[in-house]
Amino acid sequence: MIPIIQLGLGGVGRALARQILAAAPAIRRRYGIDLRYVALVDSRGALAGDPSLSDEQVRQALAVKEAGSGIDSINGAITERHWIELLPAAMSIVVDVTASGGHAAPLAAAVSAGHRVVLANKRPLCEGYDLFAALTERGATRYEATVGAGLPVIGVLQSMLDSGDEALCIEAALSGTLGFLMSELEAGRSFADAVRTAHRLGYTEPDPRDDLSGVDVARKALILARTCGIQLPADAVTAESLFPAHLETVSVAEFLDRLDEAEEAIMQRLVAARAANQRLRYVARITAERVEVGLNAVPADHPLAGLRGPDNLISFTTRRYYDRPLVVRGPGAGVEVTAAGVLSDIIATAREL
Ligand SMILES: NC(=O)c1ccc[n+]([C@@H]2O[C@H](COP(=O)([O-])OP(=O)(O)OC[C@H]3O[C@@H](n4cnc5c(N)ncnc54)[C@H](OP(=O)(O)O)[C@@H]3O)[C@@H](O)[C@H]2O)c1
Repeated sequence: MIPIIQLGLGGVGRALARQILAAAPAIRRRYGIDLRYVALVDSRGALAGDPSLSDEQVRQALAVKEAGSGIDSINGAITERHWIELLPAAMSIVVDVTASGGHAAPLAAAVSAGHRVVLANKRPLCEGYDLFAALTERGATRYEATVGAGLPVIGVLQSMLDSGDEALCIEAALSGTLGFLMSELEAGRSFADAVRTAHRLGYTEPDPRDDLSGVDVARKALILARTCGIQLPADAVTAESLFPAHLETVSVAEFLDRLDEAEEAIMQRLVAARAANQRLRYVARITAERVEVGLNAVPADHPLAGLRGPDNLISFTTRRYYDRPLVVRGPGAGVEVTAAGVLSDIIATAREL
């Protein structure tokens, strides 16, 4: 049996649990691996098995979460203990599909006790470099879903580096929301209109500034850079924000109302890009010398120029892929593809164990 502790039962966490229940018999047949939840944890408590949770208990936890309640509402749930105390002595896989900070140190402690970690949560990899190193040493942590969701990005990069290639430049569009906005601007919409529409359709976070600040893209850029072996501190990557600083503290409603105040600066960039036959994109650019995250005008023949809508695109220029970069492109968000990326990391880890 391969014991799994899963932190987080939100959109991705629930999709993952459903995928594990559905795929477990085939995984058992194909690899002789018996994936078993020993605990499911949300922000309010944990449901732990003795020694593992039955499929019925997992389904019950899913139903409770779907209904909007906490794990603590289930009979026998544990509310007083930290998840690390629930780790069995046997080598286990801790899966972090929360969106929370504060897990890096306990996850690193689990790694040093011989356990493995799988992440969709970017935050544990974005704290001090020492914690990143502690988590990832000897491949103890897999984190494919942190960049590009279900797209093969981290694995592709690691395979290239493992086989002696060198990443010279990674250029990437890593935000579906910002990709959507760039396409809308290209189609002639105003920035304010495009953001309001994206917000109304649920394409942005509830507070659209979480997308427009570029912080999420900066985290992904930091993870890519650190994966390349660049030992950057946590605050090394700053993102260009797409709204003026004086709108940082107003309410969401007021922010949406006053978006026109962000219009002129972005339109100037759009007009300048068009005049030079270039396309405006929100780009993370990683080289050994620097990591930049912000609006960029890219030449019309650049892989990023052809990007439309919310797709992600990651272009790797390496010693081997020098004349024509290796490009990964596709949907970079969505709970099912993200959960599938996490599950494939779990299976790869279980096969190693
Ligand atoms: N959605 C996507 O398309 C996508 C793509 C790539 C990566 N990701 C990443 O995947 C992660 C999960 O995303 P999501 O959309 O599923 O988020 P979500 O719906 O907000 O779910 C987060 C879950 O984490 C739980 N949680 C919060 N603090 C916790 C703690 N201290 N201990 C245990 N559980 C805790 C929450 O508990 P409660 O239920 O009790 O609130 C909730 O169940 C995020 O890091 C996100 O960036 C998501």
